[in-house]
Amino acid sequence: MIRPRAIALGLVLWSATPSVAAPTPSGTKNDPLVAETQAWVAARPVLEKYCARCHTQGAKSATKRKLAHFDMTSYPLGGHHAATIGATLRDVLGVTGKRPRMPADRPGIVAGNELAAIEAWAHAWDAADKAGLHPSVVHH
Ligand code: HEC
Repeated sequence: MIRPRAIALGLVLWSATPSVAAPTPSGTKNDPLVAETQAWVAARPVLEKYCARCHTQGAKSATKRKLAHFDMTSYPLGGHHAATIGATLRDVLGVTGKRPRMPADRPGIVAGNELAAIEAWAHAWDAADKAGLHPSVVHH
């Protein structure tokens, strides 16, 4: 059965994130996935702005090595940190109190509302992950 809420969400995602395959919510028990998806709508433009040129396939400054670490070409996000991507992004952006390491050429540039958007998404991702809603993410 297709739920109206899923359709509404699909429309929102379709218009807001045309090139990203969104997680597909299929019922109320997937609410963390809906929250993740909504948070992604806000976080994605920030990653596009600061990270895409090195971490998207075919981008100007992308290399195999950078993509192996972190690949934001499609969603769910890829690279060998995929299974811990919420914590990894908090870490490289300095949210955890350590010095920020990304973007590699301007660490610390992501701040304020933009950083908050990524942090919110990272927490939503963690919650969905904890709820077992990332079957396609390979957990080591
Ligand atoms: C100018 C190019 C460039 C930009 C822009 C950039 N990165 Fe990176 N990123 C790199 C390089 C180079 C490495 C690999 C560093 C290494 O091998 O130690 C890397 C590695 C990473 C890693 C793996 C880190 C680790 O400790 O293993 C993550 C996660 C990451 N980047 C996330 C991001 C995020 C998030 C952004 C945007 C806020 C971003 N990067 C922007 C070049 C970039």
